[in-house]
Amino acid sequence: MPAGPVSPWRVCVAPMLDWTDRHCRVFHRLLSRRARLYTEMVTTGALLHGDQGRHLDFDAREHPLALQLGGSEPADLAACAKLAEAWGYDEVNLNCGCPSSRVQRGAFGACLMAEPARVAEGVKAMREAVAIPVTVKHRIGLGRVEDYGFVRDFVGTVAEAGCTLFIVHARNAWLDGLSPKDNREVPPLRHDWAQRLKRDFPQLGIVVNGGLAELPDLAAQLAQLDGVMVGRAAYHQPWRLAGWDAAFFGEPAPATAASRDAVEAALVDYMAALPAGTPWTHVARHMLGLRDGQPGARRWRQIWSDHRLKAEPVRQVAALARQACHDAEAGSTVPA
Ligand SMILES: Cc1cc2nc3c(=O)[nH]c(=O)nc-3n(C[C@H](O)[C@H](O)[C@H](O)COP(=O)(O)O)c2cc1C
Repeated sequence: MPAGPVSPWRVCVAPMLDWTDRHCRVFHRLLSRRARLYTEMVTTGALLHGDQGRHLDFDAREHPLALQLGGSEPADLAACAKLAEAWGYDEVNLNCGCPSSRVQRGAFGACLMAEPARVAEGVKAMREAVAIPVTVKHRIGLGRVEDYGFVRDFVGTVAEAGCTLFIVHARNAWLDGLSPKDNREVPPLRHDWAQRLKRDFPQLGIVVNGGLAELPDLAAQLAQLDGVMVGRAAYHQPWRLAGWDAAFFGEPAPATAASRDAVEAALVDYMAALPAGTPWTHVARHMLGLRDGQPGARRWRQIWSDHRLKAEPVRQVAALARQACHDAEAGSTVPA
């Protein structure tokens, strides 16, 4: 632990479309009080013309929480930043890293990296509209060309507009046909470029993202940077979060993270109290990795994802899942 106050961005869970919805974030909060959580990307169009409550409502326990926006029109971004602040978000983050073709057609996401002046305008408009931090999540380049100067100039230009925190997904985005999934795996990772940015802009907060999972790797990054952001490893093996408060904030984990059983029990309580019309399956899907590597994990996961059980009361399904774990611990075989 460093002496003195630590950055609020020290450990973050990445924004992930279709994954980090409000239920997932409540689940993550049962595992870590301090991790900074991000919403899925919401486009300015969806917010300004769609159902704002559906996109913006969240549970008070999710703080600290950032809203991630996708968009490029400064006036729209400013209007959405105002909504974020009014709803009680702690930060508004602009997506400059998504490579999907739908997003490219909308001329935002990763293609904004080619237009740093436009990003700067958007950031300026948002900063003028709100008092909460305005941050940017971006890649380190576009296409196959590896040129540190490109990302350095991007960060420099956007910082001049007043952005003081950058989340660096440390690989290029290839915008010519590679799927979004491959774009998270194929372009090479260059964590060292995040460190280079920190050396070139010591006054800025730099958070590194991409391919990070294990505590020692996070700690090594934190020795040089202000924060780390974990995406897939946090989602697929959520138990990792249970170690974060102690390791990175010197604080005990929440009581609900005392054991996997305790986390599951707390989430079952949450599912049992869902408003009518919200199926518990919308929540349970996010915890399927909780027992990864544990005895009975496969059977436990099968029960929680068995569509034949979806009409059953959640506590009944929880009892079946618990039984599967006990049977596995006792070493007996469970009929499939
Ligand atoms: C299913 C999925 C959805 C994603 N959606 C978003 C998104 O909405 N906004 C964003 O900035 N990044 C999104 N990402 C990228 C992640 O935020 C992160 O940058 C990327 O997965 C690399 O981090 P990781 O290696 O720790 O997973 C998504 C990633 C995944 C796997």
